[in-house]
Amino acid sequence: MSGQFYSDATLYDRLFPGSEQAVEFYRAEAGRHGGRVLELGSGTGNKLIPIASDGHACTGLELSAAMLAEARRKAAERGVEVEWVQGDMREFDLGRTFDLVLIAANSLLHLHAAEDLVACFRLVRRHLAPGARLVFDVFNPSVGVLAQADGIRRRRDALSFVDPDRGVVHVDVADEYDAAAQVTRGRWYFSTDSEADFVVMPLEIRSIFPQELPLLLSLGGLRVVERFGDWSRAPLTAGAALQLYVCEPH
Ligand SMILES: C[S@@+](CC[C@H](N)C(=O)[O-])C[C@H]1O[C@@H](n2cnc3c(N)ncnc32)[C@H](O)[C@@H]1O
Repeated sequence: MSGQFYSDATLYDRLFPGSEQAVEFYRAEAGRHGGRVLELGSGTGNKLIPIASDGHACTGLELSAAMLAEARRKAAERGVEVEWVQGDMREFDLGRTFDLVLIAANSLLHLHAAEDLVACFRLVRRHLAPGARLVFDVFNPSVGVLAQADGIRRRRDALSFVDPDRGVVHVDVADEYDAAAQVTRGRWYFSTDSEADFVVMPLEIRSIFPQELPLLLSLGGLRVVERFGDWSRAPLTAGAALQLYVCEPH
């Protein structure tokens, strides 16, 4: 239910320009472990293009043709070589191993069933070279925030952005939290002052709680080496916005 969200890569990049701290975190991880770097759900290359420009051999696996096309365009524009592969992180076989596998910016949360998460972790394990790591980030669910997902449409001022053709774009979101599935089901509305709702798209995103993740990883043959609550590597505490994991095969 989130495919449409990734069908307009330009809109995605304007909405989520990406954090410099996140890019620097993943670049540092690539400096420590890469070698050969694979990103699953690589989007438009926000992490992978800077990593490739540092001299690492990079492969991006991505479901959306539109996101891949934009990643290819941006890499070519910067003169950076990356292997871009269209595929599904739940079922892929690249026939070789990597020194670092990344799953950045909540991409993992598009897998809603526990079986899909475990299938992905098993495949990651098969693609890890000796000594390699899986590094990923997902948000740290807050029950307070989830409780506010009541289906009512609200403006998210912090998400407004400027489109060179349309001007200032306002973003409204109506979210509903399905507690049984642990999935937030949202509708995102994009408007300008003169054009209401010029795009309306669904986005569904799972919550994975901190006590679940080590178990899911373990079913996939992985274990947690380090866990952080922000990009500065502070510990994961109750109020942390992020869950950042560094994992290895067990
Ligand atoms: C939130 S974006 C993150 C993009 C990128 N990792 C970044 O840091 O900017 C999530 C990406 O995951 C991709 N995606 C969703 N489900 C996927 C799947 N099953 N296999 C591969 N990619 C997937 C989406 O198409 C989207 O590009």
